[in-house]
Amino acid sequence: MSHGEHVEVNRLNWDERVAGHLVAYDADGFAADPTRLSTVVRDDLALMAPHLPAGSIAGLSLLHLQCHIGTDTLSWARLGARVTGVDFSGAAIAAARELAGRAGLDAAFVHSTVDEAGDAVGERFDVVYTSIGALVWLPDLAAWARSIRSLLKPGGLFYVRDAHPMLTALDDQRDDELLVVRYPYFGTGGAQRFDEDFSYIGDARLRNTTTYQWPHPLSEIVGALLGAGLAIEGFGEQDTLPWRYLPWMVELTDSHGVPDGRWVLPEGRDRVPLTFSIAARG
Ligand SMILES: C[S@@+](CC[C@H](N)C(=O)[O-])C[C@H]1O[C@@H](n2cnc3c(N)ncnc32)[C@H](O)[C@@H]1O
Repeated sequence: MSHGEHVEVNRLNWDERVAGHLVAYDADGFAADPTRLSTVVRDDLALMAPHLPAGSIAGLSLLHLQCHIGTDTLSWARLGARVTGVDFSGAAIAAARELAGRAGLDAAFVHSTVDEAGDAVGERFDVVYTSIGALVWLPDLAAWARSIRSLLKPGGLFYVRDAHPMLTALDDQRDDELLVVRYPYFGTGGAQRFDEDFSYIGDARLRNTTTYQWPHPLSEIVGALLGAGLAIEGFGEQDTLPWRYLPWMVELTDSHGVPDGRWVLPEGRDRVPLTFSIAARG
């Protein structure tokens, strides 16, 4: 199968996840509460702030690649950004537009693959953003980085935070709390095939169970950005994750004891990074 055919199989899977995710992400609660920000954006804002003018996104144009149902994109709108989201799932884009309407937020959502986003959007942005659960879906990071460069204004900020490729190389089906490498860290360029009738959140069951994913080591991610001419100005590794990747992870709570959407290793948080972040200039 070609990369294009793999991506089409993935699209069927992502289209089908949308209905269940609207419930699992509590889209109704998000629309109803104008103060609500997604956990992902709350954490990304803190990491991005040193790279933003006066630490704020307000008044800047922001393009969100792989925006899914729009909860992260619209969180940036609530923080004052002028937002555009891009996703290859027509169902996700329709859901994101509907959510923006219900939340009373201005936002544009464009139906496109990441690789074709430059032509599909036809505009350049102060910030290009992508976060959490994005890169494993992309077969060709050189094309991804070229697309980012074409969407950034000169001097604009690119920011990514995603699952650390060392985390996703670990066996996610053990319950003995051992960190055991199961999948290759270094991608060969070939797709890994998975067959699962569930998503990472919610309890909806899927009929389009097959997905193809591509592991990308940190060196490939950094190399792709440098190769496209971006200048890296920040790099971080974090010990929390906004979803439960290993079944024995535990959720942190806020000062009132309320679960706050961030998951950690219960013992020895210093053992392995869970996410990485990069800030770069166009
Ligand atoms: C895990 S979600 C994005 C995560 C986001 N942080 C969230 O939770 O809302 C991954 C998204 O990537 C999209 N996607 C996967 N492959 C894509 C591609 N080649 N081009 C554009 N979007 C893609 C999927 O439709 C899905 O909405």
